[in-house]
Amino acid sequence: MNTLGFITGSNGFLAQNVIKVLEKYCKKIYLIDLAYNEDEVEEGILHKKKLDITSEKNVDTFFQNIDFQSFDKSILVNMAAIDHKVTKHGADFKWNIEESNVEKLRKSIEVSLIGTFIISKYFCTKSVKDNIESNILNFASDLSVLISNDSVYGENNHKPIDYSISKHGLIGLTKYFAVYYAKNNIRVNSISPSGIENDQNEDFVEKYSMLAPIGRMITSEEIEGAVEFLVTDKSSFITGQNIILDGGKSLW
Ligand SMILES: NC(=O)c1ccc[n+]([C@@H]2O[C@H](COP(=O)([O-])OP(=O)(O)OC[C@H]3O[C@@H](n4cnc5c(N)ncnc54)[C@H](O)[C@@H]3O)[C@@H](O)[C@H]2O)c1
Repeated sequence: MNTLGFITGSNGFLAQNVIKVLEKYCKKIYLIDLAYNEDEVEEGILHKKKLDITSEKNVDTFFQNIDFQSFDKSILVNMAAIDHKVTKHGADFKWNIEESNVEKLRKSIEVSLIGTFIISKYFCTKSVKDNIESNILNFASDLSVLISNDSVYGENNHKPIDYSISKHGLIGLTKYFAVYYAKNNIRVNSISPSGIENDQNEDFVEKYSMLAPIGRMITSEEIEGAVEFLVTDKSSFITGQNIILDGGKSLW
């Protein structure tokens, strides 16, 4: 298929699963991440690009140099975020409202919301100008519709609020773009996975698994079906929607 792909946050943990899906449909995929060392590394159809999505000037320049006209369709998957992880050694955060750092909160919202807005803006502008069908998939989280059950993070610890604010906001951004660009043949949706199994410590995995009726954490492979559904014509009449992949966690 003659499709051009873009993935932000492509150096992160989940990106490999998204790349696997897009490789089935795209002739060229730009992998965009702040963490890359070199400028534009090519590996077959994959083009790695070091880019800060919060820099409007750099994002604008990046899109000015991309040829959309040689393609029939384009896909943008927004994954870049400040995500607070739990590892083998426990939560990598220790957070409460009273001692919180507003600068960290600003930075997180800047990446997850403003950065996603900026890259989506230039992607859509270019798609409309070159008159090609397009599709955006935003990576939200079950915390786009729920507030975290902090009992899994250890005593007196809380998942930082920036994550909840950003992911709830991302649902608004998704719906706004979906309505705004519907007439331009651009669909915009989001997926909301719960915490993904990733070598976390046993105590956390056990407690987190109890939060869902299915009784376990989701694996990274299990996001691929929803990604494929939303970025292809299998979902051709769906826009502005959020698919929650949480093993029923949000039902309790
Ligand atoms: N891992 C999970 O359990 C989980 C669960 C639900 C939702 N999600 C969401 O899925 C997405 C991917 O998750 P992940 O675990 O791969 O995240 P991750 O933290 O491993 O990767 C995020 C990537 O974003 C990049 N990034 C940060 N700021 C950037 C910027 N300004 N410009 C460009 N790139 C930037 C980072 O360098 C990093 O490679 C995130 O939006 C996350 O919130 C993850």
